[in-house]
Amino acid sequence: MQALILAGGEGTRLRPLTIYTPKPVVPIVNRPFLFYQLDLLKHAQVHDVTLALSYQPNKIADLLGNGLEQGMTIRYAVETTSLGTAGAYKNSQEHLTQTTVVFNGDIFTDINLADVIAFHREKQAAATIVLTTVVQPEAYGVVESDETGRVLRFREKPSPDEITTNTINAGIYVLEPHLLDRIPAGEKFTFEYHLFPALLEANEPFYAYVWPGYWSEIGTPQRYLQANLDVLNERIQTLKPERKPLNLPTGESESVRIDQRSVVDPSCLIKPGVEIINSVVGPNCVLEERARIEHSVLLASARVGKSAEITGSVIGKSAIIGRNAKVADAILGDKSSLTDYTIT
Ligand code: GTP
Repeated sequence: MQALILAGGEGTRLRPLTIYTPKPVVPIVNRPFLFYQLDLLKHAQVHDVTLALSYQPNKIADLLGNGLEQGMTIRYAVETTSLGTAGAYKNSQEHLTQTTVVFNGDIFTDINLADVIAFHREKQAAATIVLTTVVQPEAYGVVESDETGRVLRFREKPSPDEITTNTINAGIYVLEPHLLDRIPAGEKFTFEYHLFPALLEANEPFYAYVWPGYWSEIGTPQRYLQANLDVLNERIQTLKPERKPLNLPTGESESVRIDQRSVVDPSCLIKPGVEIINSVVGPNCVLEERARIEHSVLLASARVGKSAEITGSVIGKSAIIGRNAKVADAILGDKSSLTDYTIT
């Protein structure tokens, strides 16, 4: 069993957070996102992983290396121009000789992949697609299946009157290697619009596995923020956030208030009177006196001035928030700078 993670997209919807950091390695609770996916694969005994890259490939490869530290083998297939999801699978062909778990590099879930693989084998499927249930399916690819699990129909981003089910493509597949022969080399080709409809047409055994547990696609700022808060609030069954003790200078600890959900990196400088509620504070941040952070994510090395208030926001790396600023529901890119008393 092998795995392919599709990690080459530009992540345009997650801008500005993806300008300097490709989406697959933006941190969720201070940990590059792909590490969570590698954990799921490892848990299912899948140790041979290929990453299909295109956008800022070196930033991902430099971070993950050859996988030794994770106890895995990680290989890379880099596209010179982005080839789409199925094109990226084809471009990784030299590494993929076995049944392959394919993962979109922006899916956050606690799915048990071993169960999906067992389902795929039991059905003797050529392809298995994982589905999840959402309240508003129109932003996604809706997939209909019958009571045996056989896939019947795909509709990418349907209009409200076309919606017949709320099960959507969860961006996780198990594919047999002979399917690679159905994908043209060096051309833009997608699973959603090209390969999967072709499998239905050819009557290949194509099955759907419905996952009822946690599932999120972190590709928009709101969903990215929510995914962080979901970890803090332990909505992902398999994940307990690590809260390391902070070294607050003597005399300061009484006036600093950090609630039990928040995760604050111990390298941060936290001044007296600071309040942190339901938030993530990345490494090397500086929070000046009486700064207040609520329902927010501060990425590494952000600085927040005295008495500034941040709520419902994501603050990019090395951003500077002036004193007494009030930042609400904002997404600030890396190195943003807000003058004192700014109101967003
Ligand atoms: P948006 O630009 O915001 O739509 O994000 P995206 O570029 O990531 O596209 P999308 O969310 O549709 O992609 C789903 C997954 O497939 C993500 O994990 C992408 O990294 C990956 N992906 C999309 N297109 C390509 C591609 O051309 N090559 C590779 N290797 N991966 C891709």
